[in-house]
Amino acid sequence: PAHRPLYGRHVLVTAGPTHEPIDPVRYIANRSSGKQGFAIAAAAAALGARVTLVAGPVHLKTPTGVDRIDVESAREMADAVKHALPADVAVMVAAVADWRSRDYAQEKMKKRGSAPPALLLAENPDILASVAAGKLRPRLLIGFAAETQDVVENATAKRKRKTADWIVANDVSGGVMGGDSNTVHIVSADGVENLPEMPKEKVAMALAERIAETLNRIDPR
Ligand code: C5P
Repeated sequence: PAHRPLYGRHVLVTAGPTHEPIDPVRYIANRSSGKQGFAIAAAAAALGARVTLVAGPVHLKTPTGVDRIDVESAREMADAVKHALPADVAVMVAAVADWRSRDYAQEKMKKRGSAPPALLLAENPDILASVAAGKLRPRLLIGFAAETQDVVENATAKRKRKTADWIVANDVSGGVMGGDSNTVHIVSADGVENLPEMPKEKVAMALAERIAETLNRIDPR
């Protein structure tokens, strides 16, 4: 029906940061509240989709009608995403840490002597890129890009590099992080759509509506 244009679709959303443990009390993380990703999950559910939300550590309520899987690290997120496929659409909003600590100390690391310990890093899996390259690639694969400058240029390059269908470029030069509004540009093969600054819920609904339109055109039921 017209008011539930995502009915019968499975939408997979990643949201929030990841935490990469160093020892039992310390971790590496990206800055992310999870608000935009949770709002997208809520909007997709409101339009009738079955929604799986893979969430990093955040303090947010699970939106109505959404199946939530909580994870901590990028590798856990990658596993949860793999198990949640197949999906018609994946919207990868999570701010995944690019690196983790190479080593994990079972006991809390102690201050000793004068020299601080060196932190050696290992590269995390790129979840979006591996979903893009996988056998179960969703029909519509959407990544996010937080940028502070050359927002559209960087997003256009990222779309090609990651072979995503859309990159939603997020201008984070203002107070977006943890804030309630967002300014985004939707970069696709067809060009760029610039949305005005709006509350994150409105950005989410605008995206969910475009996702529904696009799916019903490229993969009609
Ligand atoms: O390369 P960059 O981290 O800026 O790309 C951002 C996009 O890639 C986002 O959609 C993010 O969720 C996704 N990503 C990912 N796994 C990573 C890094 C980023 O899925 N390890």
